[in-house]
Amino acid sequence: MFAYSTNRTYMKKEKILVIGASGQIGVELTLALRKIYGGANVVASDLREENELLKGSGPYVSLDVMNKEMLHVQIIRQNITQVYLLAAILSATGEKNPPLAWNLNMQSLLNVLDIAKEEKLTKVYWPSSIAVFGPTSPKNECPQYTIIEPTTVYGISKYAGEFWCNYYYQRYGVDVRSLRYPGLISYKSSPGGGTTDYAVEIFHAAKEKQKYTSFLREDTHLPMMYMPDAIRATIELMEAPAEKIKVRTSYNLSGMSFSPIEIGDEIRKHIPGFQLDVKPDYRQQIADSWPKSIDDSKASEDWGWKPEFDLAKMTADMLMNLNASAGSEG
Ligand code: NAD
Ligand code: SER
Repeated sequence: MFAYSTNRTYMKKEKILVIGASGQIGVELTLALRKIYGGANVVASDLREENELLKGSGPYVSLDVMNKEMLHVQIIRQNITQVYLLAAILSATGEKNPPLAWNLNMQSLLNVLDIAKEEKLTKVYWPSSIAVFGPTSPKNECPQYTIIEPTTVYGISKYAGEFWCNYYYQRYGVDVRSLRYPGLISYKSSPGGGTTDYAVEIFHAAKEKQKYTSFLREDTHLPMMYMPDAIRATIELMEAPAEKIKVRTSYNLSGMSFSPIEIGDEIRKHIPGFQLDVKPDYRQQIADSWPKSIDDSKASEDWGWKPEFDLAKMTADMLMNLNASAGSEG
């Protein structure tokens, strides 16, 4: 039951199911978990096909998280002990079809929590978002505990989900843990329909065309995080002793905060001719409802969270990796 890990500690052998493994976070989180637990012990699953980057690194199953019976069968058949639930509809796509977003975001979580209770899974991970905050929340350094009145269906579903996590922990002892991710920036896998996606698109456009038209106004500050920090935060949260996890809804998490004009200026240090235009669309209203920056001192106090990447470091790393992948493509 115990395996020797690379960091020279003995740890309990776990079998992990990642749901939504072909998405922006899923790909990198699955790869990171496979490094820690071994490829065969991390089962990737998604409604869509297996992401190219996952191929050959471990098992993959095609799975619809809304089909509770099939999900339950897979969890029993594969001897799963932990679930990372990443399937969701994000903020911008959610506003196009609110009932669909509510249905997927809520029912997927309830399916997983119910099975976790029944099968006595050791841990569940489910991400929340800065989208829980609304126009009445503080704009700067938004605290862990404050007024929370979300105005998007995505934010409403995340806030309700946080309380379902807390409920299953308090009532049934399900060890479910959660982070309110800021907008995530990554070069390996593409974002899936969020309001913060411009901060990924801008890098690809800068590399390919040296110009980008942002769908958010130039002065729109939002909380953001580079994917390596988000993956490390997730793993640190999940590996922390249970008694350190004092927030059983979801932890505020912070990396950096910037606006389109600020990231444009930073990119220009590497690509001098880069041109930024703006043409705000319906996503501006969503962005305007969210805080500009987040206070994550509770995560620091409870389990030692500290981000590594600021805007300058992240920009340099993104462009270096995009250059490297362009080079390897030919
Ligand atoms: P994504 O859209 O890139 O990936 C979600 C994956 O879930 C997709 O591959 C999709 O095919 C899959 N999926 C959808 N419906 C499914 C179903 N019925 N059964 C199985 N799989 C299904 O999203 P992401 O950015 O990787 O986000 C993952 C989680 O993190 C979500 O809960 C999201 O709300 C949260 N989050 C993301 C960000 C961000 O900036 N990316 C920020 C805050 C919170
Ligand atoms: N990046 C996400 C979104 O914009 C935040 O949860 O929807």
